Amino acid sequence: MTVVDLQQSARDHLWMHFTRMGGYEQADVPIIVRGDGCYLEDSKGNRYLDALAGLFSVNLGYGFGEEIGQAALEQMRELPFYTNWSYAHPRAIELAAELASLAPGDLNRVFFVSGGSEAVESAWKLARQYYLARGGKHVPADETRHDERVGTPQPRKYKAIARQVAYHGTTMGALSINGIPALKETFEPLVPEVRHVRNTNRYHRPPEETEEEFTAFLLDDLENTILAMGPETVCLVHMEPVQNAGGAFVAPIGYWRGVRELCDRYDILLSADEVITGFGRVGHWFASERYDIRPDIVCCAKGLSSSYAAIGAVVATDKVMEPFLADTSMFSHGITFGGHPVMSAIALKNIEIMKREGIMERVLGNEGAFRSTLETLLELPIVGDVRGAGYFYALELVKDKETRAGFTQEEGESLLRGFLSGELFRRGLICRADDRGDPVIQISPPLVAGQPEFDELTGILGDVLAEAGRRVGLET
Ligand SMILES: Cc1ncc(COP(=O)(O)O)c(C=O)c1O
Repeated sequence: MTVVDLQQSARDHLWMHFTRMGGYEQADVPIIVRGDGCYLEDSKGNRYLDALAGLFSVNLGYGFGEEIGQAALEQMRELPFYTNWSYAHPRAIELAAELASLAPGDLNRVFFVSGGSEAVESAWKLARQYYLARGGKHVPADETRHDERVGTPQPRKYKAIARQVAYHGTTMGALSINGIPALKETFEPLVPEVRHVRNTNRYHRPPEETEEEFTAFLLDDLENTILAMGPETVCLVHMEPVQNAGGAFVAPIGYWRGVRELCDRYDILLSADEVITGFGRVGHWFASERYDIRPDIVCCAKGLSSSYAAIGAVVATDKVMEPFLADTSMFSHGITFGGHPVMSAIALKNIEIMKREGIMERVLGNEGAFRSTLETLLELPIVGDVRGAGYFYALELVKDKETRAGFTQEEGESLLRGFLSGELFRRGLICRADDRGDPVIQISPPLVAGQPEFDELTGILGDVLAEAGRRVGLET
C-alpha cells in the first residue's frame, strides 16, 4: 500500500486501542514503519526517539529483528505450533527452566500466557484455586453460607487487594484489579471483590513525615483493609514493584518487608506485577529481587520477549504449585497460545541477547547518570518531582512547586492532551503524558539507550515543558 492508501485504510478499518478515533477523521494517523535501536521512523520519514520503548516493553530496542527473526524462522520450520494443554514441547520447557533460573527464590513453576492482562487474570484465578486445592471446600462465593456437608461455615478465599491508580490490564479480572476508576466505570459491574489501598506516592504526603512513618501509614492501611474485608476471604495482594500509573512510585524503606509479613500473617498470596518491571527495566531480571519482595507469584509479559512476541508468564513458587501436584488436582485454566513455540523461541533468544549484551549491568551502571540528567529538569517551575529507578522514571507536573499543587482536571486535560503529547511527538520524542493520577510524563526508553539518548530526550523535554509552563502562566 502507498502511504495515502495506508492512511485511508487505517481510518476505514483499523480500530486503535485506547484511541479517540474521531480525532483521526481530519488528522493523519501516525503510522510507524520501521525501527532501529532507540529510534522509530514514520511513514513520512520523520524520526523519533522512543523514550517509552513501545509500551514500556521493547527492552532490547528495535535493532535485533534479524537475529530474533532467525530464531523464529528456525522454530517455524521445526514446529510452528503445539499446545501446552497436556503436552509439552522443547521451547516452552527450556523457557520455563530459564525463567525459573532467573527468578529469585523458589519461583520455579511457570504457566505461560499471551500477555500482561492474561498473566494478571491467571494470577488471580491461581490464587483463588490455590486455597481450594490446598484443602478448602468449594463453597459458592458467599462467605456466610453454610457448608451442609460439614455443617460449619466455610469462608472462601477469593477477594483481591491492589493499589489506587495502579494499572493491571483490561480483561475483566485484570480490569477489576485496576485501581483507575475512570477505566473501570464503563464496564461495571466488575468481578467482585477488590479493594484498593494507598499507593506509595510520597510527593503529596506531609513534608515532615519520615520514610518510616510513611511506611507505617501505608501498612496500617493495608492491614485495616485486610481486616475490613475479612482475612479469611482474601486470596491475593497484587502490586507492582515500581508502580507505573501515577508515575513510577518506588516503595519506601521497609514497605515490602511489611507487605510480606501481612500476607504471611493473614495467609494471603502476594503477587508481584512485573509486566513492566521484569527483564531489566530496573536493572534486574525481576524487580522483586532488587527490592527483596519475596512474592508467591510473579506476572510478566512485555520485556520477556522485548515485545518481539506476544508472550507472558505467571511464575509461582513451589509452595503455590504444591497442592496442584496432588492426586487428580489441576489448575483449571488454559489459553491456546500459552507457551506458543515460536513465541517461546523468541523469548529465549531475547534473554540470550540480554545476557550477551550485559543489559542488567548496563542499566545499573547508567542509572545514576540517567537520573541526574533528568533531574536537571527540576529547574523548570512546572517540574515538581523526578522519581523512579533503573530506566523507569516519571516527572510530576505542578502548578505551584512550593505548595506542590497540581492542575485541575480541565487544566491537566488541556496541558497533556491539548499540548504536551502532540508537541513532544512533533519534536521527535515519544514518551507519555499521563493523567491517570496527577499529571506526569513517563519515561522508559529501551535498555540499550545511553548518555546521548538521555541528553536528547532531556533536551526536548526541557524545551517543551518550558513552553508548557509559559502556557499555564509559570515563569521560566
Ligand atoms: C503493570 C501492568 N500489568 C498488566 C498490564 C497488561 O498487559 P497487556 O497490555 O500485555 O495485557 C500492563 C500493561 O501495560 C501493565 O503495565
